[in-house]
Amino acid sequence: MEAHKNYYLFKITAIGALGGLLFGYDTAVISGAIGFMESKFSLTPALKGWAVSSAIVGCVIGALTAGYVADRMGRKKALIITALLFALSAIGCLLAPNFTLLVVARIIGGVGVGAASMLSPLYISEISPAEKRGSLVSLYQLGIVLGIIIVYFCNYLVARSGGEAWNIEYGWRYMLGSEAVPALLFLVALFFVPESPRWLSKNGDNVKALMILERLNTREKALKIHQEIQMALKQEKGKLSELFEKGFRTAIIIGVVLALFSQITGINAIMYYAPEILKSAGFGVDSALMQTVLIGVINSIFTFVAIKYIDKAGRKKLLLWGIMGMIICLLVIGSLYHFNALQGPWLLIFILGFVACFASSLGPIPWVIISEIFPTKVRGVAMSICVMVLWVGVMLISQFTPVLLSDLGPSYTFWLFMANAIFLWIFTLKMIPETNGQTLEEIEMGWKK
Ligand code: GLC
Repeated sequence: MEAHKNYYLFKITAIGALGGLLFGYDTAVISGAIGFMESKFSLTPALKGWAVSSAIVGCVIGALTAGYVADRMGRKKALIITALLFALSAIGCLLAPNFTLLVVARIIGGVGVGAASMLSPLYISEISPAEKRGSLVSLYQLGIVLGIIIVYFCNYLVARSGGEAWNIEYGWRYMLGSEAVPALLFLVALFFVPESPRWLSKNGDNVKALMILERLNTREKALKIHQEIQMALKQEKGKLSELFEKGFRTAIIIGVVLALFSQITGINAIMYYAPEILKSAGFGVDSALMQTVLIGVINSIFTFVAIKYIDKAGRKKLLLWGIMGMIICLLVIGSLYHFNALQGPWLLIFILGFVACFASSLGPIPWVIISEIFPTKVRGVAMSICVMVLWVGVMLISQFTPVLLSDLGPSYTFWLFMANAIFLWIFTLKMIPETNGQTLEEIEMGWKK
């Protein structure tokens, strides 16, 4: 019986985490396609930049609106709309007759990414039993990372299947269009997941909510959780202004700071610009590409560290250790540049070290914390605010990393990321409470004390 329930929980979590996979897929697919698109449409540098960043604009819009939709229509319906957006975007890219429509299709995909980036952790968090919630939400981060690796592989296969001329004419379309496969899989699978019991309770459908809780927990535990949910809901005002009152105000500050600093400590400077950074440090083109793959592999392997320990050691401890590791790696990377000590494998080793520390802490944990610290009635909108800030952070880093690297130089760029990481470490120590093992309702009551 217990094994059966665990399997069911794992199955619906995995379906929710497909949102993460599409997030990773969509954000990374462009890296393989952009060169061929540039030749096909004779893009100027500004248009090339727009072809890449247009999707991120969509992400901000998606993140901002999805919470409202999820609070009004439910988590499941919002996820289904998101899957449709991904499918529409992929098919649009496959067929777009001109560059303008192609950009429109990419923006639609971006809206999907922004929406999925908050809906998936929200959904997983609300269905999870307290003692497994950290690991289960971290599976969503694993989805992101696997999506990135899968798309690198698909891009490679497509690029290999024809010559340069074929790739310029068709290859990039197949790369972007291939996303239709995971998108349709996500869409179909979503019909087999239940609505979130917490959202159902919020809307007064207590019978159904209890039924779903019983499918995921023992009867006794389901009854207890159900009671707690109802009690917590009774005390919530359900107004956005509640988030800015004493108590919940701390929660929103934590959410926003974690979201922003998970980005401005530099992970995507590495994820997006690794080949260029490594090339400029003297690595050959082929080995720079190989190392990009290596970064993806390390990123996935170390996400398992978080999955394994997040509910045992706790979010705070893992964050403190991980960020400390990131600080040390950033210090060394900056120094290697500063003292011109780039010969040998050290740059690569410390870049991989940085990614490993991130993957086991600051990669998954902000998603976990953001999905668990807000009251049920406004959880969607509150998460939207934090995740929108996260996407603004992504935008800043992707826009300004090349400028920082050339104007400030690599050493000061990495030291700047280090300064941000030091701030985040202190903030984590002082401000973030430990939430592992507590139900969402217990965490909610904690803010009021
Ligand atoms: C996290 C970050 C995201 C990054 C990814 C890489 O999900 O929020 O920006 O690209 O990790 O592993």
